[in-house]
Amino acid sequence: MKVRKAVIPAAGLGTRMLPATKTVPKEMLPMVDKPVIQYIIEEAVEAGIEDILIVTNRAKSAMDDYFDYYPELETRLNQAGKDRELHEVRRAADLANIFYVRQKETKGLGHAIWRAKRFVGDEPFAVLLGDDVMRAKKPVIGQLIEAAEKYEASAVGVQHVATEAISKYCSLKVEPLEERIFRTTDMVEKPRPEQIFSNYAILGRYVLSSAIFDILEDLEPGYGGEIQLTDGLKKLCQKEKMVAVDFEGHRYDTGNLRGFLEATIDFAMEHPETGAWLKEFVRAKAKTL
Ligand code: UTP
Repeated sequence: MKVRKAVIPAAGLGTRMLPATKTVPKEMLPMVDKPVIQYIIEEAVEAGIEDILIVTNRAKSAMDDYFDYYPELETRLNQAGKDRELHEVRRAADLANIFYVRQKETKGLGHAIWRAKRFVGDEPFAVLLGDDVMRAKKPVIGQLIEAAEKYEASAVGVQHVATEAISKYCSLKVEPLEERIFRTTDMVEKPRPEQIFSNYAILGRYVLSSAIFDILEDLEPGYGGEIQLTDGLKKLCQKEKMVAVDFEGHRYDTGNLRGFLEATIDFAMEHPETGAWLKEFVRAKAKTL
């Protein structure tokens, strides 16, 4: 079945980016000239997604405002002949059909996704984490959708990470199916060295069967006292087919300071307005270090 809907969980507290995220949601921090969440929505739209649900909380209404019209501002830009700015402001509001639901308590990623049950209904859906930004020629979520449709399975986006780093992620048990695609039948969140299945870790993108909702509903709190998506995925891959896609592209965790800065620099280097200037600035700076 075609994947038409996406869910973006964005209700986390963003404690790794404090104090900036005390009043500004981390998804709204500007990366060059757009907020982080816009990069994620653009990826989904480019992959053919039509309807997007953002899971928010009471401190994140800046997101709904951003994707709304702003007549007073638009009139002013129009009168001033600022056509490019007007176009960009409108484009953000017209990107997709965006819906919102609140996660009333911060009970974990699994719980945030469970809040999408009514929006999704009984069809496969995409999940894009609200702070994981991808830089890729072909949208990463599109690469997963292709694999999910081909194998009629759920799909998780993975990459090979260093053994020293895997304890921060979810390690997967994998068997190769074809180049860059594996069957996965087990996984472990934040493994201790003796628990590592493989160096393939899930990184922020999923296509899930709606069977995940009943699983999430019955889950007990796991790691950190939260309802963990990984615990749900582990059950899902033992019940139904799931593939892991070693996606092509670079992933940035913009929810931590280094990831955010790396992404900002890389995107600014590619941006037509800042690219040439930034490269020159960095070259000059490097000489002084
Ligand atoms: P993270 O652990 O990266 O986000 O969650 P966080 O909780 O905001 O991070 P800290 O506080 O800096 O450690 C992964 C994703 O799950 C969402 C987050 O918004 C992020 O997109 N999430 C997490 C929720 O929507 N609800 C939750 O209860 C927890």
